Parts: sequence; structure tokens; C-alpha cells
Amino acid sequence: MMHIHLTLNGEQTTWDTAPHELLLTALRRAGMWSVKHGCETGDCGACAVLLNGKLVNTCTRLAVQAHGAAIETVEHLAPDQPGRRDNDLQASSPPAALHPLQRAFIETGAIQCGFCTPAQLLAAKALLDQNPHPSEDQVREAIAGVLCRCTGYARPVQAVLRAAAILRGEAAPPAEMPPIIFASGLAAQERQAPADDTPEFPDDSFDGRPTETLTRTRMPVMVVAQPETRVVNKAETKVDAVKLAKGRPVFTDDMTLPGMLHAALLTSPHAHARIRAIDVSAARALEGVHAVLTYQDIPRVMYASGGQSYPQPHPYDQASLDSKVRHVGDRVAVVAAETPEIAQAALALIHVDYEVLPAVLDPVAAMQEGAPQIHDEPDAVGIHDAAHNRSHHIYVKHGDLQQAFAAAAWTFEHEYRVHQVQQAAIEPHACITYWDEDDRLVVRTSTQVPFHVRRIIAPLLGLPLRRIRVIKPRIGGGFGGKQEMLLEDLCGHLTIATGRPVRFEYTRSQEFSSARSRHPQIIRIKTAVRKDGTLAAMRIKTVADTGAYGTHGLTVQMVSGFRGLSTYRLGAAEFDCDVVYTNKPTPGAYRGYGAPQALFALECHMDEIALAIGWDPIEFKRKNWVRTGDEMMMARAMGEGREGFAQWVTSSGLEECVQEGMRAMDWERKTRPGFHTPHPDRPHIRRGLGVALCMHGTGIAGLDMGAASLKLNDDGSFNLLVGATDLGTGSDTILAQICAETLGVPLRDIIIFSSDTDFTPFDTGAYASSTTYISGGAVLKAAEQVKDQIIEHAVKHLLPGADPERVWLEDQHVHAPDGRKVSLEKVALHATHQADQHQIMATASHMSYVSPPPFAAQFVEADVDTETGQVTVNRLLMAVDCGVAINPLTAAGQVEGGMVQALGYAHCEEMAYDDEGHLLNPRFGPYRIYQADEMPRLDVILVQTYEPSGPYGAKAVAEIPKDGVAPALANAIFDATGVRIRQIPFTPERVWQALQAARS
Ligand code: FES
Repeated sequence: MMHIHLTLNGEQTTWDTAPHELLLTALRRAGMWSVKHGCETGDCGACAVLLNGKLVNTCTRLAVQAHGAAIETVEHLAPDQPGRRDNDLQASSPPAALHPLQRAFIETGAIQCGFCTPAQLLAAKALLDQNPHPSEDQVREAIAGVLCRCTGYARPVQAVLRAAAILRGEAAPPAEMPPIIFASGLAAQERQAPADDTPEFPDDSFDGRPTETLTRTRMPVMVVAQPETRVVNKAETKVDAVKLAKGRPVFTDDMTLPGMLHAALLTSPHAHARIRAIDVSAARALEGVHAVLTYQDIPRVMYASGGQSYPQPHPYDQASLDSKVRHVGDRVAVVAAETPEIAQAALALIHVDYEVLPAVLDPVAAMQEGAPQIHDEPDAVGIHDAAHNRSHHIYVKHGDLQQAFAAAAWTFEHEYRVHQVQQAAIEPHACITYWDEDDRLVVRTSTQVPFHVRRIIAPLLGLPLRRIRVIKPRIGGGFGGKQEMLLEDLCGHLTIATGRPVRFEYTRSQEFSSARSRHPQIIRIKTAVRKDGTLAAMRIKTVADTGAYGTHGLTVQMVSGFRGLSTYRLGAAEFDCDVVYTNKPTPGAYRGYGAPQALFALECHMDEIALAIGWDPIEFKRKNWVRTGDEMMMARAMGEGREGFAQWVTSSGLEECVQEGMRAMDWERKTRPGFHTPHPDRPHIRRGLGVALCMHGTGIAGLDMGAASLKLNDDGSFNLLVGATDLGTGSDTILAQICAETLGVPLRDIIIFSSDTDFTPFDTGAYASSTTYISGGAVLKAAEQVKDQIIEHAVKHLLPGADPERVWLEDQHVHAPDGRKVSLEKVALHATHQADQHQIMATASHMSYVSPPPFAAQFVEADVDTETGQVTVNRLLMAVDCGVAINPLTAAGQVEGGMVQALGYAHCEEMAYDDEGHLLNPRFGPYRIYQADEMPRLDVILVQTYEPSGPYGAKAVAEIPKDGVAPALANAIFDATGVRIRQIPFTPERVWQALQAARS
């Protein structure tokens, strides 16, 4: 041990530290929980602190190097004062006792998951301490070292500029809000669909499921006026923003328990191998090691790790630990030890004798006769064709394709390729397990699906479900990556083996190789077009790479087929998909869930067709896109791995999205002379504009279910308990807004909690863009029931003679038409303590057979350097119809962040492998995500429609921003260069090669 002296947040401190202890570890040991672990290489910046006033990363610096230094963390920006009576952290406006930077981050919506926020605040403080008048570029440069995966940086930059103005004593500029365009209701809908020009289909029979004859139907267009609201549709600040701005210990790993052990995972160095022998004796003998588990130590139970509803889709092709490894990074053994360092040392002492097997990395090769068989275990359940590595085969169709293709004026066929990318949440997967005082296993985990995790791990651990409690704290970004049971089984096994609390967290490298990612696909689209420009038929044939395990392989590809074949009216359609195992890390759920792959192909293909037949691409798409009242024909055929049923487009602002986007982008300039060569002195820089249309879903119809419990407190406030999981999207705030609106109270009167399988009712979890719509529907129902109970009690006891049909709740009171009113506090106290004594409360569930599609138009302006292939994106603009935005501030933040993730998918992110299946870039930096100083201009336009089936008219917004950037960029590159590139990402090498090929 070494003694070091330092000043920590203004106080002289002495630390005893081991020579190898990282500054990050020492700071967290000292209770500085705002200092986050995001990587081990200094690439993400989440661990940054101010050391002698300069921003430094603490994950690559030893604690001893801080000897004599002054360190400042976010805990010091606005220290909590004794008393704290004024700290109403869930109040609508942030408390005064915050640093101007913290206030600005909250007010501008710069905080989503909040995992990067402490480091961003410190980076901004370091800048403003030196430069009170920073330019936007200087702000971007200052925070560039702190990666944010949620926001797209637009709002953090705005926040720093706002705080700088406040610190200079100037009036704060107003927080920028996205423009809201109101779609023009019935008139607009009628303009979109002047007549039912749906083509007649002579044969509407289906060869896929279900088998009954179907007829295309149109639903009557319903237009409901948007009601006046006080809390909904307002830019309320997030209910969790203050604690996140203060760096409070709210994430999974922000706690320690007496006797807690640290887990470490030994992973496979081979893409495909059988374990002939494994010797753990030396590891077990190491002092401080409490457990070493291999496949020989735990029961073999086959399962699927995807966090999906019961019954879990097949295949069950995983065991917690196995005698065979199927990708580099696959699980081999797990250790629990007194310290993380001892756990790592133990891993090095495990000797594994591998029989290395031939590996296959290409999905087309994997299906061929004689390819290595990845799943040859006899106890796997539900693999479609294990001998040819096909986990699933999906075949669905409607209509008579043969006849449609035979009668078509034109037929087009193109092939597109999309690659593997990672969710890259800045918070790695983390889990802590322990026995509680009743010998129930508590699982504290960064998951989007706590209820599915509990159901999946129970048989793996050999525990009845009632003895497991899953707690979801705040999540540092998920994006679908945490819709999976990944660590919880092994962590639980270690607690069972040792009797001790165990903490398990992936390294960044394991995030890439052992967590989940997006499915690569090869997509071949063939389309028949009639003489009048209408689409007659479309066939999509897909080969999807599901890596080593099946998990979400079926459902992601189902969504891909559904989205690809539902955006445009099709007389006949067919989806044929092979889902194929390879010896690569396993893809899973990733925001967009199959739609980004399909829409890249579709929106490029549609542009290609339009230009080939001499149409303007937007006009061609307008001629064919689905309209309000149209049935989405593939819904009945596909379902979600279950029986399908009819679904319709119930609202659409797509026309307005396109028009507003074109206006904002000055779309017509692309036809003006000189547009494509903006720099006459550099004619090799070519400029282009591209657009893609997007249609997504809102939850999974007939499957997703959420529930909410609500109770009235003595002071007229409400406890709202939801199983829904806010992974940084702001869903807690949105659900609380729906509740507050219904009950006529301000947002601060709703105390929301999510989620804990012991205390909150069930929710399928945060995925499929379902929370606002499904969980919000449950909250609305519970709030309506509680409202009815309040009115009943008030009228019976406190407003005698009032007509219950005519009283209403507003401003924390029950109002009667004759002017009398009684406060909710009075109602609560009276009901609880005085007459008809009972607790006013309700629990409600919501499931929907409707999944109303949000629509969007995604625009890109980009420059292409034709000498180097470098693509520079100047501007992204998305006009999006998400129904009524419950909170325009968080909705805009979702769109901005989603667009930037999608830009990474299109432009620079790629999981790259060598020939043996080793990932070449398992760290930030080589795996390139956008930094603040590299960003294009971002614009969001909210086109507001009213969705009749949604709570207060809402539809989803979380995933649709992922769908259109890649095809819009492809179309912009084509506009700039005349060269069509059908594979992403558009790296300089790929673009340059395509340009060279076109020249030659
Ligand atoms: Fe920045 Fe989530 S808010 S990583």
C-alpha cells in the first residue's frame, strides 16, 4: 500500500492505494460515483475528472499519479447542503441550488441516460473556466473527448453556450425547441388519398400463414381533434434529470455491498472449438478466489437469451457454460474473487485444452453442404436446419406474384448489403446479485427487460421464480443491447456458489465480442412496376447472419420483412429469409430491430426504379406510399411469430413530413446550376441531396403488454409504479406527464418509480417503441380509474349534490359546475382517515391490437471528395410524425440521437474481423462513433398528427430515426456523383473504389 495526499473536491485527503490501483477505482472507492467506467482505454471519456483544472481520463491513470494534485468531480459542482428541504428533485423546474451548467443541461434536454453527463459537465466547466466566451466550435472541441451515444450532442452544445451566457451575466437564450407542424387533419388525409386507387388483386390468397383467403380492406379515416392539454405536449424537464446532473449513484454499478466479490469472464480465443479439457485448480488455489465455474460445475439447461415474451421464441441453443465455443468471445469460465485484479489473475491461471474446429464466418458459405456445423449439440431445441446452419427459414407471401411480374411493364432487381454494428451504450452491461434476508436472490441489473430476465434465469439457476427479484436502476443507454439476458445467470451462479454478493461488469472489449449487435443482411429485392408507375409486386429475399446463437434471429428478420413490404402499397409481396449461424459474435436487438436493414435496401431500390423509369423519386414514392386507412397486408401473414391479424394505417403525416422537409432543406436547389459543385476551385468536391421515407411500428400489436399501479397519497400526490423501463429515453417523464394530465395535477405531484419485479406490475419492457403507447395506455387507464374513484368520493362526501358526470379535476382540485371545489389533498385525507375509509388506487394493464405506424422523411446533404472517397455529411434533417409528442423536448432528443447513431451505421461504424473471426476493433476509436466536433447540422421537425388509438394521440418516436439515414445518404451520394453504392458503411475506401469502378 502507498499513502498519497491529494485535494478532493476542495478537501485535503489521504488515500491508501495499491501501486496498480487505477484512479477511476480509487475515486469510486472514495464514493465519487459520478466518475463512470465506460472503457479501459481512455477512449470514451466517461471517467474524466478535473485534475489541477484539466480534464483527464481516470481509467488509464494510476491513483498514485494523483499524489499532490487537486481533483474535482461533479459532486463538487453544486454540493448538497445540509437540510435539503428545497431540493424537490422531481419538480418541474430544477432547483436553484445547481451550477448554471447543470441547470442548462436540464433545461435544454441535454441529459438522456445521463451516463456521460458528469464528464461532459466537467469538460464544459474546464472550458468556461478558461474561456467565458466560447464559440460553438470551441464548445464542440472541448466536449469531443466525452462520447455520448444518446443525444447527438446538439443539446449539450446548446446547454454549454446557454450556461456561458448565464455565467457572463447575460440573459439566458431560450432553450431551442423543435418546430411543431400540425398535420392538417382530414383535409390532408383526403389530399393524400383522393380516391382509393388501390389496385385490384385478382388473387388475394396467401401461401404463408394464415391460410384463409384475405381481402385488402380499407379502414374509415378517423380524425379526432387534439384536446387542449396542460402537461401533455409540453416540454417538461425530465423527472430524473437533476439526480443525473448531480452525478448521484443511480446506475447498477453505483453501489457496494459488504463482502461483495468481483466477477471476471474467461472468453474463447477461437471462433470454433471444443473444450477437450479444462484445468481450474491453479485458479481456485489463488488466494482471494472464491469460485471458478465451468460447464462441469453447473447444470446444463438449454435456453434462448433474447428478452422476449413468453413463450420464448426458438431456438434454445445456448447453455450458460458449454463444452463448445462458437465465436471469439464466447463464454468459457467465470470467476469470483475479492478484487477485480485477483479475478483477472485467476483467469490467467485457467488452462484450457481446445480442439480447434474449422470456422465459417460468411452466412452464404455457412449454408453450403460440407460447411462446419456450428450447432451439433443434440439437446438444442427448435433449430430449423442445424446441418446447414440455418436457425430459421421464413417464407411469407400474399397475392399472385407470378401474375404480377408477368403483367408488369418493368421489373427491377438489386442486391444490397448491410453490416454488423454495435449498440455501444456508454454504460457497459453490469449486474450485482446477492441473497436477501429471506434467501431470495436479488438481481440488480442494467436491463431493458427485468421481467423477462427473471423468467429466463429461474430455470438456469434452479430457483423458483418467486425466489428471484430483479431490480432495474437507471440505465446508461440500452438501444436494444440490454434487451437480452447476458450476465445475470452467471452472476447468480456465482452468488449461489459463494453465498456472497457478486458484481459482474463487461469490459468494453467484451461489450463488442460477448454482447449483442445488429444483424448483417444480404437483401435482394425484385419489384414489378406497372405502366402508370404503381408497384405491382415486390419480392425480398434475405440472408441474415445471426452469428453463433439464434436469440432474436427470427423476430428481427420478421420485422425486417414486414417493414420492407409495408411502406408501399403492393398488390403482391413475398418475403423469403434464411437466418444463418456463423462463428461470429451474436447479433440481437438493436434500436430499429430489422427495419434499418430493410429500409436501406428499399429506399435505395425505390430511388433506383424511379430514376430508371424517368420519374422524380419523391413523386414515385408518393404515388405508392401507404395512406391512412390502408391495411398493412403483411401483418396478417406474418404476425410476430404468432397468428397474424389485420392491421391498418390509422394516422399518417407522411405528406406533411415530405413537404416540410423539402421546404426546410430547400430541396429545389439541387436543380440549380452549380449546386453539385459548391467549390468551383475544387471541382472534385461534389454535393448531393438525398431523401428516404420511413415507416415504423408502435409496439408489437397483440403481444406487448404494460401495466401501471397508481395510488393517491395524503397530500394529493400520487405514486405511479410502472414495470416499463426508462433506459434514458425519458419514458418515466412521459408516463408521469400522461398521469398528471389525466389527474389535473402538475408533473411534480407524480412520483414515478420503475422498475422492480417485486413492486411494480409487469411490463414487457423497453423495446419495439412500445413504452409511450403501451405502457402509456396502461398509465392512462389507471389514472382514469383513480380519477373516477376521486370523483365518486368527492361527490359523495365533499361536494354533495354535484353531478359526477359534470365534475372535473384541474389544478389539484375537484371542481363542480356550480363553482364549488375541493382539493385532492382533502379528498385523500377524507378517504383515508374519515369516511368510507379506503385507499384510492388502481392497477391497469394495456395491450393493443393496433400498432399505429409513425412516419418520417429523412433528408441528408453530403459532400463527396471524388479523389479520396471521403464523404462529409453537412446536414441531417428529419421531419417525423409521431402523433402528439407527449414531450416535444424528449421527442426531439430521441430523433437527434437516433439520427446520429444511424449516421454511424451509414458512414463509419463497422465490426471488422480477421479471417479467424477475431474482432479487429473491439474498442472506441477504431470502432468509430461520432464525436461532438465531427457532427453535421441536425434538424428535427415534429409533424403532429393525432393518433386515435394512442394516449393523448401519441405514437412512437424512439426507433424511426434509425431507419432512413443510410438510404438518404446513399441517395445523396448518388445525387452528388451519379454512382450507386449498394453496401454500407460509406467509408472512403468503399466510396473511392465504387467511383473508380464507375470511371473504368
Ligand atoms: Fe450521453 Fe446517454 S446521455 S451517453
